[in-house]
Amino acid sequence: MNEYTGWNSPARASPDLKTRFTELVGIEYPIVQGGMMWVGRAELAAAVSNAGALGIMTALTQPTPDALQREIERCRSLTDKPFAVNLTILPTMTPPPYAEYRRAIIESGIRIVETAGHNPREHVDDFKAHGITVIHKCTSVRHALSAQRMGVDVISIDGFECAGHPGEDDVPGLVLIPAAADKVRIPMIASGGFGDGRGLAAALCLGADGINMGTRFCATVEAPIHPRVKQFLVDNDERATHVIFKSLRNTARVGKNSISDEVVEILKRPDAKFEDVAHLVRGAEGRVVLETGNIDAGLVWAGQVQGLIHDIPTVADLIQRIVQEARDIIRRRLPATLE
Ligand SMILES: Cc1cc2nc3c(=O)[nH]c(=O)nc-3n(C[C@H](O)[C@H](O)[C@H](O)COP(=O)(O)O)c2cc1C
Repeated sequence: MNEYTGWNSPARASPDLKTRFTELVGIEYPIVQGGMMWVGRAELAAAVSNAGALGIMTALTQPTPDALQREIERCRSLTDKPFAVNLTILPTMTPPPYAEYRRAIIESGIRIVETAGHNPREHVDDFKAHGITVIHKCTSVRHALSAQRMGVDVISIDGFECAGHPGEDDVPGLVLIPAAADKVRIPMIASGGFGDGRGLAAALCLGADGINMGTRFCATVEAPIHPRVKQFLVDNDERATHVIFKSLRNTARVGKNSISDEVVEILKRPDAKFEDVAHLVRGAEGRVVLETGNIDAGLVWAGQVQGLIHDIPTVADLIQRIVQEARDIIRRRLPATLE
């Protein structure tokens, strides 16, 4: 692509926006689609990887380790580009068989894994013993450093803006990313609140080697969720999230709807316990929202970046748009400040 003539060659021709991360995992653009429960299926991961970024399938979205292996095969049939699998380890009342999912990932020949959540050591050790590149997603500098010591290859660091679990420190990306970049020595991906090329250029300026996006990828043609949920993300602005479970030290950021409103109200009571809201926050109901488009059926995971989402493009169009905008900022807007 020649930026100056505007002539459009096939996307693959551009070697720019190269970072330590793109080199390490063998992708074209420093953009990752983070693991997303019920959303990270083969079609989305393959679309992201085909567009030159890194698509990630979410292991626990599949009901069994065997089903995960079949889904990995389905993803392989849709792309010949690198893609990854996310394994999220969260405190739950009935934990899934993590070791069996891990084995399924390893036996499928996956070369890149994203781990997230608590105490990943046993998983990281096993993945590394099988020569797998491990991206560990975490939410604080101290956890990033402990994952680095553990031997992971890449840190993905989620600021307080993010959908999902932003940790307990409430530090937004503008401080968290450079604070982490000052200490982390391995490639690092900035996550939380990214949705456009301004964010990508900013992340590179802050010391990251790329960006990870969740909510933005939900509002794409290929995201395997109901169109009403995509439109909900478009219609919402940056204020349309709730931070819940803080008192339970399992903080989560979700979209505002009648269910999250109710959870907030119940958890305001001084003696509130998880059991008081358990019936409202079950993953099964979250799945119903995504599949039926009934927004008030359960929790909708979404971040503050909703305020930057104004359309539902294809994944390829979204990635090209982000890349072009970041290039334009880096090549034109930033140098112009020095003239
Ligand atoms: C619908 C949805 C489901 C998610 N599920 C998971 C998950 O299962 N595991 C995980 O590590 N992160 C999960 N996340 C977090 C994303 O991977 C990513 O870290 C986060 O969305 C980044 O913030 P952003 O939404 O502002 O881009 C989820 C996010 C969304 C929007």
